[in-house]
Amino acid sequence: MTEGPSTARPKPGADSASLAARDAAHLWHPYTQMLTRPEPLPIVRGEGVYLFAEDGRRFLDGTSSWWVNIHGHSHPKLNAALAAQAGEIEHVIFANCTHRPGVELAERLVEVLPRGLTRIFYSDNGSTAVEVAMKMASQYWSNQGQPRRTFIALHHAYHGDTVGAMSASEVSLFTKPFAPMLFDVVRAHAPYCYRCPLGLERASCGIACLGAEARPPAVSPGSWLATLGAQLEQHRGDVAAVLVEPMLQGAGGMIVWPSEFLGGVRKLCDAHGVLMIADEVLTGFGRTGRLFACEHASVAPDILCMSKAVTGGYMALGVTAASERIYDAFLSEDRAHTFFHGHSFTGNPLACALAVASLELIHETGAVEKVRRIEGWLRRGLEPLASHHAVGEVRIIGGVGIVELVSDRTTKSAGGYLDALGPMLTRKFLERGLLLRPLGNIVYAMPPYVITEEQTDWLTAQIRQVIDEVLGP
Ligand SMILES: Cc1ncc(COP(=O)(O)O)c(C=O)c1O
Repeated sequence: MTEGPSTARPKPGADSASLAARDAAHLWHPYTQMLTRPEPLPIVRGEGVYLFAEDGRRFLDGTSSWWVNIHGHSHPKLNAALAAQAGEIEHVIFANCTHRPGVELAERLVEVLPRGLTRIFYSDNGSTAVEVAMKMASQYWSNQGQPRRTFIALHHAYHGDTVGAMSASEVSLFTKPFAPMLFDVVRAHAPYCYRCPLGLERASCGIACLGAEARPPAVSPGSWLATLGAQLEQHRGDVAAVLVEPMLQGAGGMIVWPSEFLGGVRKLCDAHGVLMIADEVLTGFGRTGRLFACEHASVAPDILCMSKAVTGGYMALGVTAASERIYDAFLSEDRAHTFFHGHSFTGNPLACALAVASLELIHETGAVEKVRRIEGWLRRGLEPLASHHAVGEVRIIGGVGIVELVSDRTTKSAGGYLDALGPMLTRKFLERGLLLRPLGNIVYAMPPYVITEEQTDWLTAQIRQVIDEVLGP
């Protein structure tokens, strides 16, 4: 045997290199410029609101690990539910078969969802929950022999990274490279009151962005056309659905709505005979201080999308709930009317069992009431920033505290998602043991619901101090 250069790779974990160094050799991370990224945090353990790194450093998980975690990391009840389900059945095809956790989850969701949402369809994540909703809405109309092509979505929307979800999302840095793949949607104004697209003041606007009433005199014709009422009128008879992120538009800028806008969307959809889809992937399961954000305006959409916190942040699961009216439109002797959508892991029993256990925990721990207490702590800690020279607006809803930074308070100019401020602030927070991920100039905290008052005070103090340190007091 001749000796040559060894091509054998070390066995995973067998060498002494750090996780970060081994990561650099083979991995490609989401939303990460791999050439210039800082070293990733090598996390080896989680407990409650904390994450622990390989070298022993501790970080407070200030964004609930991309908005999914609600009961804290490595929760004993959820750990036990996962192990128990793995001992029974880990996965089985959901086209031919059914199983206890899948059925139980559907029953429990129907009990707590806004009224009338009685049919549950499973998929894998938030983007697929939205994709399913849009396909359901489209086929709902075509099964009745009235195909409709138009979806109306809002400016600043973010609905996910699959093709349908990206098409419905705002045209942005995230979607531009894929423009040739995307389909057109009609886009209406969002109620971004700090940067009102109609140039109005919230106190007197009458939610003109709905365009439901007579045209307000201050609104220019161009702006008027992008109001929801005008869009519905213009595309009468061809709109399959209006798609919204109720009360809180997330990745598009953490925009908090007046609840009147949400109620108005439902009324306009009813008046125009159009379906309403609520994307509650971010807002579902208590994040805004209600179990579902639609409750802020007592609204029941025709279709509602869930993911993220549905399993308490443990497993990937998408859920799309629909009304009986939607479901009925797919019942036919004609098999071509079947809803042709599914994934290998549709209805995964492990994910469903965790979702059932997480719903139990939400009730046992009074999680929604807890989020309302967190809201008060976030207000107390962040609202003093409203007078800071670099802060345009502070917005709080439920367990989400948002600080919009600007370079000029008069013109409200700001750097947007690629603002170098984002990575700089992230670094400063990490030095203090806080894991946050600002959306450019939008700094926000969205911790797991198990955070204590003391931990919340610490978190908001870090945000105040880092803003002072980086931008001056
Ligand atoms: C409102 C909303 N919809 C959909 C998605 C997509 O979910 P996922 O990342 O699980 O595909 C997100 C993700 O942030 C979201 O915030």
